[in-house]
Amino acid sequence: MRALFIAALACAMAAPPAFARAIPDPHQRAAPGNEAEQKPISQAGYSTPVNYQLQCAGCHLGDGTGSKANDTPRMKGFVGNFLKVEGGREFLVRVPGMSQSALNDAQLADLLNWLMREDGMAGKSMPARYEPYSTEEVSRLRKVSMLNLPGTRAELIERMRQQGIPIEDGMDY
Ligand code: HEC
Repeated sequence: MRALFIAALACAMAAPPAFARAIPDPHQRAAPGNEAEQKPISQAGYSTPVNYQLQCAGCHLGDGTGSKANDTPRMKGFVGNFLKVEGGREFLVRVPGMSQSALNDAQLADLLNWLMREDGMAGKSMPARYEPYSTEEVSRLRKVSMLNLPGTRAELIERMRQQGIPIEDGMDY
């Protein structure tokens, strides 16, 4: 009886691999006309706004409004203020959404320079003088990880307060 039970158990355990199917099916073919390999975004050559839509808008929303419910600050009309305080320029590259994105250094520099436009998301928050980010600068900064993100951000916000900058980041604190 016991031997029978063990044999049944062994069969039950052996069965799933026999029925398992590899997903995705290695024999599956691309739909006609769609045979080309998918390119990584860092090589795809999309425009900067498309890169933003693909890599950032899921959290920051299409116009940079962000979402307090998801702890994502408002960039629209605010993000340029980081350039007015010490450490802010580096911070903007080192936040994980930036530094860990699948975009290459040149794409990230273009994206930042695109955000930091008076007719762009930064809008009225732009400092009087703006030095565009270069590929080299982004490449250097994104490699330095930020160990205490909330603490670093809070310090930068405090520096803005000291300069009398209204904290309109949508986070209410
Ligand atoms: C998974 C959600 C998510 C994605 C994707 C994301 N971010 Fe963020 N981003 C955040 C959050 C949350 C913060 C606030 C700081 C933190 O906790 O990282 C932030 C902060 C920032 C900041 C600093 C502004 C501030 O007020 O703190 C910038 C600039 C920024 N993100 C740009 C981007 C860009 C550009 C992309 C796309 C390449 C991107 N983010 C992708 C969630 C995201």
